[in-house]
Amino acid sequence: MSIRLGDIAPNFKAKTSTGDIDFYEFLGDSWGVLFSHPADYTPVCTTELGKTALLQGEFEKRNVKVLALSVDSIGRHEGWIKDINETQHTTVGFPIVADEDKSIANAYGMIHPNASETFTVRSLFIIGPDKKVKLMITYPASTGRNFYEVLRVIDSLQLTAQYSVATPADWKDGEDVIVVPAVSTEDAIQKFPKGVNVVKPYLRYTPQPNK
Ligand code: BEZ
Repeated sequence: MSIRLGDIAPNFKAKTSTGDIDFYEFLGDSWGVLFSHPADYTPVCTTELGKTALLQGEFEKRNVKVLALSVDSIGRHEGWIKDINETQHTTVGFPIVADEDKSIANAYGMIHPNASETFTVRSLFIIGPDKKVKLMITYPASTGRNFYEVLRVIDSLQLTAQYSVATPADWKDGEDVIVVPAVSTEDAIQKFPKGVNVVKPYLRYTPQPNK
């Protein structure tokens, strides 16, 4: 089964490094990041989970709950977390799912058989408070993800969920945003009192409305 943007994220019950969870109960009304890694005790994954732990405060500020996943056992997760904490100078506080029967990995399409029959690839899903999938990225085992980019995307998703704007290439929180095409320039001037810069009739910038 493959998941597409706008789909409802499948719920699941799982064993994790912090105890048993029901995914929807774990999320509550928060945003969620669910991300898989190929295997415990591997170098790139160690840096990825360490970086996520170091950025835990940034996720919390944005009201985002983080959940990692691999097909390794709870026992392996527990041992590996000690190594992550030691080598990445952090404390992993978020749960890591032990998806030994691959049921969650299969539901989310995290196993790409032509990459590996056995292991999950580096899939990452951002899930909104409405439980819909807002973003999906997939990286190969050889390339660690950029978790600052994940935070940047969350900033964009949360902003664009609230205002009739979109964010341009390389946008960062605090920079000017784009008025969506569905809003006329006349209406944009009313909606965005900080001003609208019309570069082309279809390319209109306004200062970030919630700053
Ligand atoms: C890693 O996390 O370093 C890794 C995992 C699986 C294959 C290659 C690298």
